Amino acid sequence: MTSAVKPAPAAGLKPNDLEAHFMPYTPQRSFKKKPRMLTGAKGMYYYSDDGRELIDASAGLWCVNAGHNHPKIVEAIRKQAGELDYAPNFAFAHPLAFQAASRLVAEMPGDIDHVFFSNSGSESVDTAVKIAMAYWRMRGKASKTKIIARERAYHGVNICGTTLGGIPANRKVFAGAMMPNVDWICHTHDIASNAYSKGLPENRGIEFANNLEAVIQLHDADNVAAVIVEPVAGSTGVLVPPKGYLERLRQICDKYDVLLIFDEVITGWGRLGKATAAETFNVLPDMITSAKGINSGTVPMGATFCRKNIYDAFMQGGEFGVEFLHGYTYSGHPLACAAAIATQEVYKEEGLFENSVKMAKVWEDALHSLKGAANVIDVRNIGLMGAVEIDPGTTRKPPEEMSRAWEIFDKMYWEHNVVCRFTGNVIAMSPPLIVKEDHIEQIVTKLRKALESTK
Ligand SMILES: Cc1ncc(COP(=O)(O)O)c(C=O)c1O
Repeated sequence: MTSAVKPAPAAGLKPNDLEAHFMPYTPQRSFKKKPRMLTGAKGMYYYSDDGRELIDASAGLWCVNAGHNHPKIVEAIRKQAGELDYAPNFAFAHPLAFQAASRLVAEMPGDIDHVFFSNSGSESVDTAVKIAMAYWRMRGKASKTKIIARERAYHGVNICGTTLGGIPANRKVFAGAMMPNVDWICHTHDIASNAYSKGLPENRGIEFANNLEAVIQLHDADNVAAVIVEPVAGSTGVLVPPKGYLERLRQICDKYDVLLIFDEVITGWGRLGKATAAETFNVLPDMITSAKGINSGTVPMGATFCRKNIYDAFMQGGEFGVEFLHGYTYSGHPLACAAAIATQEVYKEEGLFENSVKMAKVWEDALHSLKGAANVIDVRNIGLMGAVEIDPGTTRKPPEEMSRAWEIFDKMYWEHNVVCRFTGNVIAMSPPLIVKEDHIEQIVTKLRKALESTK
C-alpha cells in the first residue's frame, strides 16, 4: 500500500452532470447510473470519488507503464508547459521533437532509425499505412497498395484502423466507409490446441503463419504493400503468437517483398521486458507503431518508427518539395516530447524493463494458479500481459444482461478495489512495470474471489 494522501472525492458530481459526455467504448446509460469515477492516482493505485484506494491491474488502458504520477515525468511536463506550450512542426520545429526522436529511435532494434510523431495509436497506424503505400510508389512499384491485417486484431478507431481491425462488430456499422483493398489472415487463438499456455503456445505457429503466404499469392505480391500484426494481440484478449509464428511471417514478407508492420502500441516500452516486442521475439519488422507507454500515458502521443531504407526512399526529388504529405497539428507536441524523454529516463534509471522481466515469472505463476477456479476456461500470459478467459455460459443475454466477464470486472471494481479490463469473455490485465510480488498476489487473490462468487 502507498502512503499517499487520498484526494478528496470529486465535488458535486451528480448523475445529471454526467449527461454531456458522449463516452468512448462504454455502455454509458448503465455507467451513468453507477459511475466508476477515478479522481486521483499514485504509483500502483487509483483513488475513487468515494474515497477508496484501488490497485491498478491494467496500467490504465495498458499505458501507464512507469506507474501513476511519477514525479519526474510530472515535473518535465510542468516545466515544458511553462517554457514552450506549443510550436508547429510543419516547416518550424522545436528542439524537444528532435531530442525525443533521437532518444526513442535509440531504443529501436536493427536499422529502425526514424520516427514520425502523431497523437495516438490509431494515428500511428494510419501513418504506417500511408508510409507503406507511399514507399512503394517512391520505389516505382505503385501497384503495391493492398494491406493485409489479421482477424481478432485491434488497430484503433480511425477509418484505417477500424478497417484493419479484425473485430466484425466494430466494423459493421461503418461498412460503407471501410478502406478498400484490405484482406485478413486468420487469427492465432486456438484453445483446443493451446489452452493454459505459459508464454508462447507450442502448437500451430507455422501453420497459422503460412496463411499469409496463401493470401499474398491470392492477391499477387505485386499488389501487396504490407502486412500489419500486433506481435501479441492485446485488446482482443491477449492472444500470444504460437512458437515460430512471427519468424515465419518475416520469412514470407521477405520472400514476397512485402513490408512487415508490428503494431506495438501495447507490446512496446517494457510490457514484454524490452523496448519492443520485436527485440523480445528477435524479429525485425520494417515499421513499428507505438503510443501509450511511450510516455507512460501522460500526454497523448503516437509514433511510427521505420527502417532506414524506408526513410531514405522518401528523400528524393527537389529539396524544396515536401517529401511526405502527412502530419498532425500536434505531431511532436512539446509536452508529449518532454514527457517521452522523462519517461525513457525513468525506465532506465529505475530499471523498469528489468523489473518487468523479473515480475513476469511471478505474474505467470500467480495467473496460472487460477486454472480450475470457477468460470475459467483458459489462462494465458506473456511478459506483464495476462488474460483469464471466462466461460460465457448459456444463460446470460448481453446487452440486456451483464456478461459473466463484465460482472467479474464490475465486482473487481466495487467489491475488491481492483481496476482491470474486460474484453468479450476475457479479463485482461497489464499492471504498471513497477509492480511487486505483493501487488500481484493481491490482484490474483481478489480475482479468484470475484470468479468464485459469480454464478
Ligand atoms: C495494438 C493497438 N493499436 C492501436 C491502438 C489504438 O490506440 P489509441 O487508442 O491510442 O488510438 C490500440 C489501443 O489499444 C492498440 O492496442
